[in-house]
Amino acid sequence: MQAEEFQSALLTWFEQEGRKHLPWQSEPTPYRVWVSEIMLQQTQVATVIPYFLRFMERFPALPALAEASEDEVLNHWAGLGYYARGRNLHKAARIISREYQGELPADLDRLAALPGIGRSTAGAIMSLGLGLRAPILDGNVKRVLSRYAAVDGWPGDTQTARELWRISEALTPVERVADYTQAIMDLGATLCIRGKPGCPRCPVSKGCLALRLRITAELPSPRPQRGIPVRSSYMLVLHDETGAFYLEKRPPLGIWGGLWSFPQFDEHYDLEAWCQARGIDTAGLEVLTQRRHTFSHFHLDYTPLIGRILRPEKIAEESAIWRQPQEECALPAPVRRLLLELCA
Ligand code: ADE
Repeated sequence: MQAEEFQSALLTWFEQEGRKHLPWQSEPTPYRVWVSEIMLQQTQVATVIPYFLRFMERFPALPALAEASEDEVLNHWAGLGYYARGRNLHKAARIISREYQGELPADLDRLAALPGIGRSTAGAIMSLGLGLRAPILDGNVKRVLSRYAAVDGWPGDTQTARELWRISEALTPVERVADYTQAIMDLGATLCIRGKPGCPRCPVSKGCLALRLRITAELPSPRPQRGIPVRSSYMLVLHDETGAFYLEKRPPLGIWGGLWSFPQFDEHYDLEAWCQARGIDTAGLEVLTQRRHTFSHFHLDYTPLIGRILRPEKIAEESAIWRQPQEECALPAPVRRLLLELCA
């Protein structure tokens, strides 16, 4: 699925299924979008609605908020929790009043520099409030994109977040950006949910890599436990002229017990010994970049090595098969992922 197809499928779905009557969606001024996004940061839509309405009645536009006392702002926040949000809102209103003549700046970096506004909230204000193209990456969108592109790794991790931002940026359209932004948030809130996602009704399931890999339940990856150990290994990916791959059945106990996997070696000399015994020249193997698969109790960093075998009949073991990639069999997610990558 190309970006354009993703966008149009999502927008078509939004027209039918999206939320279009939330109070902040009528008159979506940057100010109203900002206040709603701050309230929605840690609070459910249903809870936010009455607070938002009361807040808008008392502080209908930015000057009213900037001129109010902090106490009064916090009074209107009472019950929503996370009061730093209310304090920051008030502080930011005063800065906007002083430095930007009372108008929220139409600039991603300036918005993100204001108290309480991160990059994603800045993106939401730009797109929902100003109709300007800017990606967002809130909790819902992290879940959608982690699954759509099968991004392994906890989204709170810098490298994973960078990858998700890159994907969000690539998928965000120039036109109808406000609808698109609301649509992708709604998809995450209503279908691409944490428990049991509604994949059969999802407008972008056709392009969803996690669905294809059958790992929607594993993504997004949870926060890794602190200090879990890292194990590293080599995965030997052998294929023959017909496109078949060499897979071994893993022993019943241990990781991926009973599943079919590529031969795996903890040490390079184990790999070399295995190859040597079968007449495979390790110098001819193509080394791919290392990847990480996280289990609950350790990280497995694995380096795939790819080799083409001319006489597959010479490499045969009792519990091993040469298998075409499209044949069904029980494969661990990293193996499935590698096969997909190599056969793309
Ligand atoms: N959560 C965060 N932003 C939202 C929005 N604009 N609509 C609904 N839920 C949200």
